[in-house]
Amino acid sequence: MKKKLIAGNWKMNGSLAANEALIKGLVSGVGTPNCLVALCVPSVYLAQCRSLLTGSVIDLGAQDVSQHEAGAFTGEVSCSMLNDFGVRYCLVGHSERRQYHFETDAVVALKAQRALASGVTPIVCIGETLAEREAGRTEEVVKRQLAAVIHANGHCISEIVLAYEPVWAIGTGKTASAEQAQQVHAVLRAQLKAASSQADRIQLLYGGSMNAANASQLLGQPDIDGGLIGGASLKAPDFLSIIASAG
Ligand code: 13P
Repeated sequence: MKKKLIAGNWKMNGSLAANEALIKGLVSGVGTPNCLVALCVPSVYLAQCRSLLTGSVIDLGAQDVSQHEAGAFTGEVSCSMLNDFGVRYCLVGHSERRQYHFETDAVVALKAQRALASGVTPIVCIGETLAEREAGRTEEVVKRQLAAVIHANGHCISEIVLAYEPVWAIGTGKTASAEQAQQVHAVLRAQLKAASSQADRIQLLYGGSMNAANASQLLGQPDIDGGLIGGASLKAPDFLSIIASAG
């Protein structure tokens, strides 16, 4: 049976002291969860978080990676650098990267490809804006975003994790209803199935204002295999409660 994955995305939050307190709280409270758990932390804290997570069931993740192997790309972090720190997952194509750093579908697809080639599991993020949803374009947008990743990755597509994060639900407190999320997840699953006979093993996460109160309903949907959690991953009791909902 495929395990669910609960991944925290700290975004640009944290400090040495706050990270230590948060991770100690999570490690002591997590027990033996029925799901996989990961924390996607700012890259400058990978070393600290790796050492705090050593021996725990919680995996380490990064929030972005360069599509290039190495070289003159000031400020970027490569997959081999992530390998050095035992990073298992890396977000690619988060809507904040697409919006503020102008990452295109093609760049996101290359990042996923680079991660897969390095043994880092990309958590590929896709999702529509409010304007796109209101224009009835949700399916068209998410299918286009996913198609680019499928096109670049071929049969390796079954090795990715996919996160559906409607942009209008991120950090707004406006969660997609379980039905809205399931509807899009079913479309994505069908698209993945058309591309790979292994599509059933791909974890499809939902992200966007998931919290301790709404997690069980969302995670109870047939095509929702986990969550990508922003704000609520910064508070140990909330994140632990979401992990418990995934059991
Ligand atoms: P929030 O949970 O804060 O809405 O953020 C979701 C997200 O963007 C996770 O990647």
